[in-house]
Amino acid sequence: MGYKEQLDLKKLPKHVAIIMDGNGRWAKKKGNPRIFGHNNGVAAVRDTVEAAAELGIEFLTLYAFSTENWNRPRTEIDALMSLLVSTINKETKTLLENNVRLRAIGDLNTLPKLVASQLKGAIDKTRKKTGLHLILALSYSSRWEILNAARNLAEDVKLGKLDCEDINDSVFETYLTTSGIPDPELLIRTSGEFRVSNYLLWQIAYTELYFTPVLWPDFRREDFYQALADFQKRERRFGKTSEQLVTNMNVNS
Ligand code: IPE
Ligand code: IPE
Ligand code: MG
Repeated sequence: MGYKEQLDLKKLPKHVAIIMDGNGRWAKKKGNPRIFGHNNGVAAVRDTVEAAAELGIEFLTLYAFSTENWNRPRTEIDALMSLLVSTINKETKTLLENNVRLRAIGDLNTLPKLVASQLKGAIDKTRKKTGLHLILALSYSSRWEILNAARNLAEDVKLGKLDCEDINDSVFETYLTTSGIPDPELLIRTSGEFRVSNYLLWQIAYTELYFTPVLWPDFRREDFYQALADFQKRERRFGKTSEQLVTNMNVNS
């Protein structure tokens, strides 16, 4: 039986986040330059997005470029940016056909003009779509996001729009780039690295983590189903005991 058949379609996560890692190593193994790996990562994105859309998953957040990735060699950054432009260009039609709404989180002002305008174009074109929200994390890092939130929050307190005492989880959440998006229930990282690399740190407080040795360009829907099947076997306790969960999820028991 394939992993898809094992899935309980009523218990799928609403939001899956992915750290797409291992492009460089994939290319190196084949004796090619790193960008060859990035180019081949697009097929993995396409297959995963399609699978997520088909399953009816509501949000898929892909880590495409981190704040720290700006420290890579200029040639690699340039190649990644032009890959972004051409991919958005080519794939917008498919997104529309699959009822996918494109969104982006991150310090988008730091993106080259052409990337920013292509991205904005695709976001505008897919705005009315009601299926999967595909969220690209671009020039994104959690510490950037949290600091940015803290700064804006402080500004609002200074302006008298908000009292310090009123700052709680849900207020703080409205200052994040993911405001209004439910926290991911599942985070997948490919390429066998066991770290979070500055991704969605606030949002993954109770997220299930799934690590696979598969390098991103080899990742396909079957790998995605496998991660979902693994997720469905886990008991999410949120600080409670197993027994409390069995007694009808009764919060007072
Ligand atoms: C992930 O693959 C893609 C980006 C970070 C943009 P890498 O480029 O990090 O590939 P490895 O980890 O060096 O193999
Ligand atoms: C994380 O991968 C960022 C993206 C996938 C965009 P990296 O390859 O940049 O992370 P580290 O350096 O291994 O932590
Ligand atoms: Mg990497």
